[in-house]
Amino acid sequence: MYYPDDVIEQVRSSNDIVDVVGSYVHLKKQGANYFGLCPFHNEKSPSFSVSPDKQIFYCFGCGAGGNVITFLMKYENYTFQEAMQALADRAGIKLPEADYSEEMKKKEEHRKMLFAVNKETATYYFKLLRSPKGATGLKYLTDRKLTSDTMNMFGLGYADGAGSDLVKHLRAMGFSDDVLLEAGVAAHDERKGLHDKFWNRVMFPIMDVNNRVIGFGGRVMGDGKPKYLNSPETPIFDKGRNLYGLNLAKRSRKDQYILCEGYMDVIAMHQAGFTQAVASLGTSFTSGQAGILKKYVNGVLLSYDSDEAGVKAALRNNGILKEGGIRARVLDLRPYKDPDEFIKNAGAGEFQKRIDNAENSFYYELRMMEKDYNMTDPAGRTDFTREAARRLGTFEDEVERDNYISAVAEKYYINLDSLKKLVGSYTDTGVIKPVKRPMRSDTQGKTNENTATESEFRDQAWLLTWMSADKDVFTQVSRYIKPEDFSEGLPREVAEKFYADPEGNTIASIISLFTEEEEQNRAAKLFNAELVLPDEAQDREKALRDIVYSVKSHASKRITDEAGGGTDAFARMIKSRKELEELAKVRFHVRGTET
Ligand code: UTP
Ligand code: MN
Repeated sequence: MYYPDDVIEQVRSSNDIVDVVGSYVHLKKQGANYFGLCPFHNEKSPSFSVSPDKQIFYCFGCGAGGNVITFLMKYENYTFQEAMQALADRAGIKLPEADYSEEMKKKEEHRKMLFAVNKETATYYFKLLRSPKGATGLKYLTDRKLTSDTMNMFGLGYADGAGSDLVKHLRAMGFSDDVLLEAGVAAHDERKGLHDKFWNRVMFPIMDVNNRVIGFGGRVMGDGKPKYLNSPETPIFDKGRNLYGLNLAKRSRKDQYILCEGYMDVIAMHQAGFTQAVASLGTSFTSGQAGILKKYVNGVLLSYDSDEAGVKAALRNNGILKEGGIRARVLDLRPYKDPDEFIKNAGAGEFQKRIDNAENSFYYELRMMEKDYNMTDPAGRTDFTREAARRLGTFEDEVERDNYISAVAEKYYINLDSLKKLVGSYTDTGVIKPVKRPMRSDTQGKTNENTATESEFRDQAWLLTWMSADKDVFTQVSRYIKPEDFSEGLPREVAEKFYADPEGNTIASIISLFTEEEEQNRAAKLFNAELVLPDEAQDREKALRDIVYSVKSHASKRITDEAGGGTDAFARMIKSRKELEELAKVRFHVRGTET
């Protein structure tokens, strides 16, 4: 943790969650809570709730939840530190120097320097494009049918052929040569010394999701090579983890983004009103990027070039998207080459039609696959059917798989039962491993120290939710269930804090003990289990006893498993078994719903 707990608590409690969330989401009061449309998934009726008492939000639709800090981290894609800064600013609190280690501090300073150099460079190119020296660039972009609004929106600029004007400018601002080189805005050689890397190019600043310039792409204004010259990867520019246009697309509130190949494609689509367009950054689309997309949408429209390379990329990326849990459809842009040319020639209305008629990615795959088989020959058709069956076997979800089997059988005139059998033979023999969804991007690569299984976690969440909602329940249950009965890691830490002070408003501060968004989310989940309680008091009592019993018996089982040897462990095991037996006889007193 980089800020002391009391500072975090001060910042959190000075920002009322209803006010903060209310400035992003339209909220309506309903009973004790506020409800609105969830900004983290697409929905038609509100299942996103904000509790003024607990100072937390929770979505019953997608499970997103946390306190006011979590909300900003998720909505603005901030790190914990950035969210703290924003909330401190909002409340007029001056944050102390974050308690970084020396190494962290240096790293942070370095990143700040790179951001600063990029920002200054982008401003420099921006002004140049709009000055007399930028006439060639302006003509090029105007000829490509970009309006000045669009050029401003994307911060487009121009690098003239002067040689080292930018270097001089940046040096005069106090940036060191090393920083210029590392940021990739300057290059060095024997003859010219340190000089501008980009010249005679229109400049596309690449922004991260928070509108900070992280790199550049520069396009020649003719047929020179390379067509686009890009910044190298730097500590702030990770090409596999950013998407061009995402800073704007995230404001579009569309439930599907359009994924394309080029800077100009994104810009042309945005100008035509398709503000949900994003592109990878001159490199292949990565699973990291799929993970980032998944934070915003569940579906993507692939809008790749209609040439062979475009088809290949679409097929490849379909797989990555599918593994990332994102549904894909594919746009047919023929007879035009790319979205930019399509819109220029056929217009936005026609493009919208192509979106409406986009082909489901699985059908697209099969259709492309057909080309590899002689479909008029029975042997060829058989091979095709086998390959189709093999691919059908990769659908993880049984309902989805069955739906596709029926659809494919109908589409390709294959006998339904034989196809089912064939698919079954692939799934049963384990030839096909079901596609495993990777963890979300923000948890990737981190070890999961949480030892709770999903069902244990759910029981513990039910119990905590109930205890936090009903003081009487807490008083009774806490006699039998102690924090150490919760699973090691996050659930136990949360339980310890809650037991220490079981008031509603401690929940939000418990959540800010965790700096990772995913952890905050899980912590919030512990207090937001969906309790569907029976009306009758006696049924409720039974439900409570069942949950308490289940939590206790899991705890007891853990102790047993751990009791490899040693008398101490053995004694603990006996004790916990005894407690469990007692628990089976306990009667809780819970009120039913008054009518
Ligand atoms: P394209 O060659 O399809 O370019 O490359 P484009 O987007 O249609 O560009 P215009 O319309 O000719 O201006 C697609 C993307 O591949 C990357 C860029 O990100 C480009 O937008 N690329 C291409 C490079 O990084 N370097 C290159 O030399 C070419
Ligand atoms: Mn193009």
